[in-house]
Amino acid sequence: MDMNVFIRDIPKAELHLHIEGTLEPETLFRIAQRNGIKIKFDSVEKLRQAYRFNNLQSFLDIYYEGAGVLQHETDFYELTWEYLLKAKDQNVRHVEIFFDPQTHTERGIPFETVITGIYQALSDGARDLNISFCLIMCFLRHLPESEAMETLLQALDFRDKITGVGLDSSESGHPPSKFMRVFEKARNEGFMTVAHAGEEGPPEYIWEAIQDLKVQRIDHGVRALEDKSLMNELKRRQIPLTVCPLSNIKLCVFKNIREHNFKALFDQGVCVTVNSDDPAYFGGYVVENYLALQNAFQLTRNDIAQLAMNSFNAAFISQDKKDMFIDQIKKFMAE
Ligand code: ADE
Ligand code: ZN
Repeated sequence: MDMNVFIRDIPKAELHLHIEGTLEPETLFRIAQRNGIKIKFDSVEKLRQAYRFNNLQSFLDIYYEGAGVLQHETDFYELTWEYLLKAKDQNVRHVEIFFDPQTHTERGIPFETVITGIYQALSDGARDLNISFCLIMCFLRHLPESEAMETLLQALDFRDKITGVGLDSSESGHPPSKFMRVFEKARNEGFMTVAHAGEEGPPEYIWEAIQDLKVQRIDHGVRALEDKSLMNELKRRQIPLTVCPLSNIKLCVFKNIREHNFKALFDQGVCVTVNSDDPAYFGGYVVENYLALQNAFQLTRNDIAQLAMNSFNAAFISQDKKDMFIDQIKKFMAE
């Protein structure tokens, strides 16, 4: 079997995917037109050409502007459904989707509109596409903790639909410790916890995410390699990292894919997983991320299988469900 087909067809989970980051230019145009919103660019091509970033902030500025076209429940439904169709093509069996309610509530869109559209598409996807899912609500770290707390209180009305909380947006200058109280309340309410840390920020932010926020996974975390004792902690406790290689290249965290430290993390025994972050903006969905790594580091089929197993082991699902997915990988490998 060709390596491209092997990577496409192996069962896998995606654990780091911002639903707002799946807004393809074509969809953005279509929804903007329907909602009567004027956009700066007069064609899909011109919009795509504007997707040139050299760091996290320059990306976020465009990403938040793009998300501004989403207004109605059907917009959130369509966005999510289009992502699920792509995930289905890449044999993604389980997704853990991030959404940023504050990006929308700040513009006057009700929390309920956002979550109802996304959740309905995910439920339909579970039924019709056989893709299981969880929802993770992220707080925007460039805003005050008090606003994150208000968002958490709003989320309690939808407690049964949300599995975990996370932390995203501009990392530099917004350490995890800023959100200690809101994460404590979230844990007391029974939410799982994750946080973006060590994407652009220093290893100390990863320590804070682990110690102050008590997260179960670190999103990105690539700068952990700069701190030996942190690496030992990640290995000893098998705290997973949700690594997004194409994102890291586009945002100039690494110069090119060969300079990415994925292989060092993997070889040193950290539980790394491969994900797409914001695929509409970074040039590839999860399969393209696996392929980039495979090409750069000559990964073997067993390496790919290990990464796919890590993706299920790191997921917020029961041990029975993990075992079921891992059996599917073993069957796939045996064929
Ligand atoms: N929001 C969407 N993508 C993000 C990223 N890569 N880092 C931080 N916040 C984000
Ligand atoms: Zn992210």
